[in-house]
Amino acid sequence: MKTASPFLELESGPRVDVTWDGELLSLPKGSNLAAALLAAGVDVFRHTPVSNAPRAPFCMMGACFDCLVEIDGMTRQACMLEVTEGMVITRPQEIGAHANET
Ligand code: FES
Repeated sequence: MKTASPFLELESGPRVDVTWDGELLSLPKGSNLAAALLAAGVDVFRHTPVSNAPRAPFCMMGACFDCLVEIDGMTRQACMLEVTEGMVITRPQEIGAHANET
């Protein structure tokens, strides 16, 4: 279990290419995915289903679910994953988005 801040490891080590919503990003291999995406300038990871409010990582420990992303068709918590070569990451399908709009 890593106990140091996930942001401390972002400047060291080799980088790998991943895709975020169709955009190619170079992120530190093995770093925390949520921290790496934030450092790369991604500031909206998902939207809430009812109000469509933007969300981004908050707790960085798997509790808040504000870091949800979709990887290979599965919705995952970015703060619980490490960056690996070739990840294809998108915002999760927003089922129920705008449910209370008419
Ligand atoms: S940032 Fe809270 S669960 Fe990932």
